Amino acid sequence: MIAIGSDHGGFSLKKIIIEYFEENHIPFKDFGTYTTESCDYPVYARAVANAVASGEYEKGIIICGTGIGVSIVANKVKGIRAAVCSDTFTARATREHNDANILTMGERVVGPGLAIDIVKTFLETDFSNGERHIRRIKQIEE
Ligand code: RB5
Repeated sequence: MIAIGSDHGGFSLKKIIIEYFEENHIPFKDFGTYTTESCDYPVYARAVANAVASGEYEKGIIICGTGIGVSIVANKVKGIRAAVCSDTFTARATREHNDANILTMGERVVGPGLAIDIVKTFLETDFSNGERHIRRIKQIEE
């Protein structure tokens, strides 16, 4: 199950990703925002991050204008490893090396086609389980 959220700056791209989920029968829950009205991104980033940290949701996706604000917020939640991605190489690498559990993107940065490729890559790539990567991820939590 995927937790997804955005602020107003990421609302349109979130809608496109939700359409992709619906077409492909990928289960998700939308944590808001639900309108284009200006809002505060920490509220929605924290809601998704808490949902993933609780263990109830396998991964999260959060969109804002740049992907940066929401990643800063999400990374303050214990157990969250959120990665801002604007390309598929980074999306694959952050799954394989960092076991990232939240993908963030900027609606003002990536177009819809690339964003869907990034989402697919992020969701379909497994953690490498490499010994050195496990050791480094443990060090993040220390
Ligand atoms: C909203 O204008 C914008 O600041 C927000 O979407 C995000 O890009 C913040 O990092």
